[in-house]
Amino acid sequence: MMLRKITSLFSRPKVTADENTLLQSIDRNKLPQHIAIIMDGNGRWAQRRGMPRSLGHRAGVESLRNIVKLCSEIGIGYLTCYAFSTENWKRPQKEVSYLMDLLVEYLEKEVVELHKNNVRVNAIGRLEELPQRAQEALQAAFQKTKNNTGLTLNLALNYGGRTEITDAVIKIANMVKSNEMEVANINDKLICDSLYTAGMPDPELLIRPSGECRISNFLLWQLAYTEFWLADVMWPDFQRYHLLQAIIGFQRRERRFGGLNKK
Ligand code: IPE
Ligand code: IPE
Ligand code: MG
Repeated sequence: MMLRKITSLFSRPKVTADENTLLQSIDRNKLPQHIAIIMDGNGRWAQRRGMPRSLGHRAGVESLRNIVKLCSEIGIGYLTCYAFSTENWKRPQKEVSYLMDLLVEYLEKEVVELHKNNVRVNAIGRLEELPQRAQEALQAAFQKTKNNTGLTLNLALNYGGRTEITDAVIKIANMVKSNEMEVANINDKLICDSLYTAGMPDPELLIRPSGECRISNFLLWQLAYTEFWLADVMWPDFQRYHLLQAIIGFQRRERRFGGLNKK
């Protein structure tokens, strides 16, 4: 509680763009069905304010809360947020443990609000390697929201694109080994159906705040033709109008998928 107050003292810059104007500029018939976000820059956000990195992570949760709400309001189908990568275990144990506690706190505090907003909570990654307390909080959130029909909030936790592809290959190899599947039947669709994101459309829009221009092992297969939107703010400073700007930018892009312009 106290910590929430401290981070809000360093609150976000004033909204500089008129949210209503942006909302009106969005073409509701061309909304991306699936948005993916690499929630990056929490540590730098805090360090620049002379605060410990942990407070940056806490401030990042505030952004997540706002962005989930907006996606749900405007009718986005899926929002996949990269919260913890398979490489993030390399960080100091104290930071990892803080992140896991924050995840549990977020799930426990937010599940009522998420449920009220018809959000279905899902997660992708090697969840079985997360600490027990995180697994339990996730299971409780899945259970409570499983019949919701609005936004699917996909939390990428202990997620790595290469691990996901490796897991899919193992699954398929086992099916071949037990004669459930022939090698000749391995195709694009089977691979999609064997990933953690089975049944979900590929993201049309990927947002990475913090100024970094890399994928960092996120959704390697699914991002094949995704439009990238790099935002020059740290994740705790990422506000509703940033997302609206990203969607408007996305709607102006011409997606060709290797083909030619429609003239
Ligand atoms: C993203 O913020 C959160 C996680 C990776 C868990 P960072 O912690 O990577 O923040 P920076 O990039 O160091 O500023
Ligand atoms: C990507 O950010 C992972 C998450 C946001 C969870 P990182 O901070 O871990 O990525 P790098 O190390 O800058 O590539
Ligand atoms: Mg980072």
